[in-house]
Amino acid sequence: MKVIDPCTLVLFGASGNLSRIKLMPGLFRLDQAGRLPEKMAILSVGRGQVSREDWLKDIKGMLDAKFPKGYDQNVFNRFIERNHYHANPPEDANAFQRLKETLADEKVFPQNLAYFLSVRPSDFADVVDKLAAVGLTKEDKYWRRVVIEKPFGTDLASAKELQASISKHLKESQIYRIDHYLGKSALMNIMLQRFTNAVLDPIWNNQYIDHVQITNTEMLGVGERTQFYDATGALRDMIQSHILQTMALTAMEMPKELTPDAIRAEKIKVLEAIRPIPVNEIDQYAFRAQYAAGEIKGEKVPGYLEELGDNSSVVETYAALKLFIDNPRWKGVPFYIRTAKRLHEADTRISIRFKKAPLQIGDGQDQNWLMLGIQPRECIKLEIQSKIPGLDIKTRTIQLDAANRQDGDESIDAYEALLLNLMEGDNSLYLHINEVEAQWRLVDPVIETWAKNRKPVHQYPAGSTDPEASKVIFEHEDQFWRYSIELGGDEK
Ligand SMILES: NC(=O)c1ccc[n+]([C@@H]2O[C@H](COP(=O)([O-])OP(=O)(O)OC[C@H]3O[C@@H](n4cnc5c(N)ncnc54)[C@H](OP(=O)(O)O)[C@@H]3O)[C@@H](O)[C@H]2O)c1
Repeated sequence: MKVIDPCTLVLFGASGNLSRIKLMPGLFRLDQAGRLPEKMAILSVGRGQVSREDWLKDIKGMLDAKFPKGYDQNVFNRFIERNHYHANPPEDANAFQRLKETLADEKVFPQNLAYFLSVRPSDFADVVDKLAAVGLTKEDKYWRRVVIEKPFGTDLASAKELQASISKHLKESQIYRIDHYLGKSALMNIMLQRFTNAVLDPIWNNQYIDHVQITNTEMLGVGERTQFYDATGALRDMIQSHILQTMALTAMEMPKELTPDAIRAEKIKVLEAIRPIPVNEIDQYAFRAQYAAGEIKGEKVPGYLEELGDNSSVVETYAALKLFIDNPRWKGVPFYIRTAKRLHEADTRISIRFKKAPLQIGDGQDQNWLMLGIQPRECIKLEIQSKIPGLDIKTRTIQLDAANRQDGDESIDAYEALLLNLMEGDNSLYLHINEVEAQWRLVDPVIETWAKNRKPVHQYPAGSTDPEASKVIFEHEDQFWRYSIELGGDEK
């Protein structure tokens, strides 16, 4: 366990959705696990005038909602003692000066300060400006860190603009950019399983691998978030961030050491080595679609355009890309990455198909697959060929599989890991600006080309498998979308 300095977490947007559902409960669980330093305070900052007493009642409500089976009263008392509230009304020109004065009370607020900006993305730069204007971002005896929630920009230009604005006041080492996917323990396991296993590392290259699929599908639709989603789309929402990060961990070279800087350096290198999608051949590299009305778990559900109430939208709820990495390890290996809403299954996994074996017995012998399940199943599964017992020389596919998670293992929410790392000063689970920019650079041309093309978008019925037309991006006719990762041989 790393030693954490006494510190104060200053939580902007503490009354918001993210804070209620993830941040406050996450901090409480860290306190319960004995991972918060004894001297650690939480100062929530909001626009409204709220008394400390009312704020503490509000926090109790958040915890009651999150932990309906109850919680330890002693931990609760300790946690509640740590919490304070500061009103920051937008019309008050002195609000940040007053914040500084509040924080100056060293008996209550340890002077290492982590600011968590759980506010609207349009407010990120403004809050940093105002903190800097009163001297609250300056590091001298104590550290100052700023967490910027997702999304960091909506394209490369806006990401650069935000970066230019906040880097006037903050060094890179002070900026913690969130991609909460990185807080999932299953994601870090990709890197660890690769490099801590002598049987996997040597075959992880273009000599043995035919192609890689990185998949994130959901059965849910866009729900209440139609306006947000229509301004965002699947490519921005999932691929630009989570899926490209998953790809980086799958494809990176081994870091020289397991330090935040060394891990990020390798992720940056591999992200920057992904070949840009040729816009004049976009249809062979990128495919988009929208879900139409259909059935999910036996229930009829409407299509995306119906939910949106606007038939002219060309925003994708399904996006698939073919990417190549221009380095010696991956030369010629396609990475097919895709995300979708309202597909037949909800699964996040990496599926690796190996090249044809040297011995082929009869027609249609399956190639080996290795699959790493991220969510909901954290598992590993290898499919190999094995002789069918009997007089004939015939093989069939058998599975070697295991759940990574065992009875009694800790179940950690991604935000708990991120909050702990923030206080520890470990930014390996946060994004470096070069990663953010490399990711936008890749998806921007596709987003722009798709936005300009106003022809109706391909439709797939909710609850179906991938649209047949998506196969246009495959390099070879024998490639196909790989599905379920059920364990125990009960493959669908
Ligand atoms: N990592 C992820 O996957 C993920 C998931 C969800 C959200 N997020 C990000 O996390 C951040 C917070 O999300 P959220 O869902 O919690 O947001 P939210 O509930 O809409 O708002 C957060 C807070 O911002 C303040 N606020 C709301 N409207 C405002 C306005 N018009 N002017 C000034 N302040 C306003 C409110 O605080 P006060 O009224 O108390 O000032 C509110 O509690 C956003 O940047 C979002 O993009 C990320």
